[in-house]
Amino acid sequence: MNVHVAPWPNGHHPDDPRFVFARDVITGLTQQPKQLPPKYFYDETGSHLFEEITRLPEYYPTRTELKILRDRGADIASIIPPGAALVEFGAGATTKVRLLLERCRFAAYVPVDISGAFLNGQANGLRADFPDLAVHAVVADFTTPFLLPDAVKDMPKVGFFPGSTIGNFDPAEAAAFLQGARDILGEGATMIVGVDLEKAEPVLHAAYNDSAGVTAKFNENVLARVNRELGGDFDLSAFAHQAVYNRERHRIEMHLVSLKAQTAHLCDKSFSFSAGESIHTESSYKYSTERFQRLARESGWMPQAIWTDRDKMFSVHALTTKRD
Ligand code: AVJ
Repeated sequence: MNVHVAPWPNGHHPDDPRFVFARDVITGLTQQPKQLPPKYFYDETGSHLFEEITRLPEYYPTRTELKILRDRGADIASIIPPGAALVEFGAGATTKVRLLLERCRFAAYVPVDISGAFLNGQANGLRADFPDLAVHAVVADFTTPFLLPDAVKDMPKVGFFPGSTIGNFDPAEAAAFLQGARDILGEGATMIVGVDLEKAEPVLHAAYNDSAGVTAKFNENVLARVNRELGGDFDLSAFAHQAVYNRERHRIEMHLVSLKAQTAHLCDKSFSFSAGESIHTESSYKYSTERFQRLARESGWMPQAIWTDRDKMFSVHALTTKRD
């Protein structure tokens, strides 16, 4: 079913998620170069495609981070005070957080995610497996300030931001996120962040151009979503997936490249593409351990420990607040 959505609040509440989606798409496609926010990849179809990506032979980040969390669990546990509250920024699959919960004695788990329905499902599974753990789900956009539940106010706080999701932010946004996390968690907090490492270009290229074409489908799904949810008429067969490494900016860029001159429509607006013009759909920044530690210092955190795999593919950073 095609749904017509007005570009501004003609009877649409500005907080209506579909209105916000339409506004963000129109804003992004009006910019030069055209772009779309990567957070819109993750509807149900996109989340399943991402799960599929994490199992691809070329896509090393997820399995490498899991291995680090497993192998270095005792070291991680040693820097975490007993009775702490674990605050996860964005809560997807619970696989990673379970590794921490099994090894460290947390009193509470606070998953923070924009999707309430998803959160409650995950929260119930954890309550069943960790009966002594208090689970307080918070429905919020973790990139904006939010309040922690009163119940965890007096507990030591440990933030958790796995998956190199921080790589989707440009460096200024990443710094703003880390500063915000520090404000939310407060003085004395610890932060555990998964960060993908800079590496040889062919390895990065393969991870974002898999031979099974799953990443291409994941990328194209954002336009499919615009058609499905907002009534757009983008011709998916006339856009091609492209992922390239931008060495100067230390980032993989994903694009959808228009294969011909064409015009698409959305909410009474037209968007014209020349042949070869692209929509920049995602940046995935890669850091050296030094560059990430510098970013952390500039954002009010003190690097406490780094754990990596033997091949230096991925890093897990522990940060603590500056006491000065
Ligand atoms: C979940 C943002 C870390 O950048 O590697 C995977 C998303 N994009 N393949 C990443 C993604 C294309 C992923 N992050």
